Amino acid sequence: MDAEDGRRDLKVVLEGQYKAAYELLEDSISVGLTPIVIGPPGVGKSLLVRKFALDTGRAFHEVFFDELLRPAYLIGTFNPAIVLKKGYCAEAFEKGPLITTMEEGGVFLAQELNRASEFCQNSLLEPLEERSYYVPRIGRVYADERFVFIATANPAELAGTRQFSEALRDRLRVWIPLTYPDRETELKIIRVNCEPLSLSEDILEKIYTVIEMARREKELEMAVSIRAGIAIARLSARHVDKHGGIENRDIADYARSVFLGASKGRAWLDLEKTLDDVIRGAMRAYG
Ligand SMILES: Nc1ncnc2c1ncn2[C@@H]1O[C@H](COP(=O)(O)OP(=O)(O)OP(=O)(O)O)[C@@H](O)[C@H]1O
Ligand SMILES: [Mg+2]
Repeated sequence: MDAEDGRRDLKVVLEGQYKAAYELLEDSISVGLTPIVIGPPGVGKSLLVRKFALDTGRAFHEVFFDELLRPAYLIGTFNPAIVLKKGYCAEAFEKGPLITTMEEGGVFLAQELNRASEFCQNSLLEPLEERSYYVPRIGRVYADERFVFIATANPAELAGTRQFSEALRDRLRVWIPLTYPDRETELKIIRVNCEPLSLSEDILEKIYTVIEMARREKELEMAVSIRAGIAIARLSARHVDKHGGIENRDIADYARSVFLGASKGRAWLDLEKTLDDVIRGAMRAYG
């Protein structure tokens, strides 16, 4: 839940859509509006919010929501052993991440908030609206003025049962969309995520071509995220480091291994055939 680790060396490419999204995030928060960052897996939603927390010197807490998560997890619970000895006192109350973040004035990132049950979603209305929460037997807990609530969701899931409750939707005021970045930005992202290893431009081009073609391939049932490109690039960079160079077929092998990991339960053999076609097609351009 806590993501303090590694915050100091966040490498963020703040260009194109990321610059616009970051500014909108800052502006929304500065005028007291609750933002939600939406986009498919791996487009940089979490990273953007972490950067905001780091840049503004706020603590960062995140919770991944699902239908089983109970409000008590967010708010806190009484420790029965202490209650037995001392009764329902403040000392017996173990604060949940939402109350902790409110008091600290930190950033609370509600990941995939639309997956939460309506009961759980509704328990957030009070902290969002009143910036306080009434904890039974303890009293009202007030948020520090720097407390910030930010949500994320995957647009592909915003249908059916994984909806926002009407009341919560009305409070998520600013929708910040992220999608796969343009070519130049994605190449930069891959480059910074390979450091301290590096790759020549022509190898990066090949990797990007494979990624792009895989994204266009209708037969593949998976999202080819930025993480896939980063993974192929890291493996390739290590290969170059070890062997002094890399062949197209090595890049193709790494791409196959990375894409297979994202397959959605389809027979691997069927998928391998499609993957091979995609990878071979991409590599053909490079002889
Ligand atoms: N603007 C960026 N600058 C640098 N790296 C980025 C950027 N955007 C994404 N990445 C890299 O892409 C990967 C995925 O980013 P992140 O975890 O923020 O995505 P996400 O949208 O939160 O994904 P998920 O929906 O799976 O939670 C990370 O390895 C991150 O470092
Ligand atoms: Mg994320």
